Amino acid sequence: MKIIIINGPNLNLLGKREQNIYGDLSFEEFFSKLQADNPEVELSHFQSNIEGELIDKIQDVGFSYDGIILNAAAYTHTSVGIGDAVKAVETPVIEVHISNTFSREEFRHKSFISPGAKGVILGFGLQSYELALQSFLKN
Ligand code: DQA
Repeated sequence: MKIIIINGPNLNLLGKREQNIYGDLSFEEFFSKLQADNPEVELSHFQSNIEGELIDKIQDVGFSYDGIILNAAAYTHTSVGIGDAVKAVETPVIEVHISNTFSREEFRHKSFISPGAKGVILGFGLQSYELALQSFLKN
């Protein structure tokens, strides 16, 4: 099973960025553990701060992979283009967020990703990614 985690802007700063919201673990540390815990999965990871690169990656993997776990970060709330890419591909996409976006500012309550997503997992810290992965493995 081939699954990719796609992370949007500023998620390369996990572990350094607003630790009270996003925790003190870097994504690389978390990802290594996730891979070690799930050796049967072909798991990969892509991060970009650039909207078009995220769209390119969704298109690249979206007709051959078994699952996309997408945290579009701030673009979640602004990007018609990423929302359209999610709808355009065949691979199911699970939208994840580290924080509970509904307990935060109003502008974070809107998602352009959710309408095309298979499901949404948010508010569980980095465990949100793990829960998304489990849901792909159990289907
Ligand atoms: C986030 C929530 C977004 O509102 C924010 O812009 C992020 C991270 C999360 O994982 O909690 O960068 O997607």
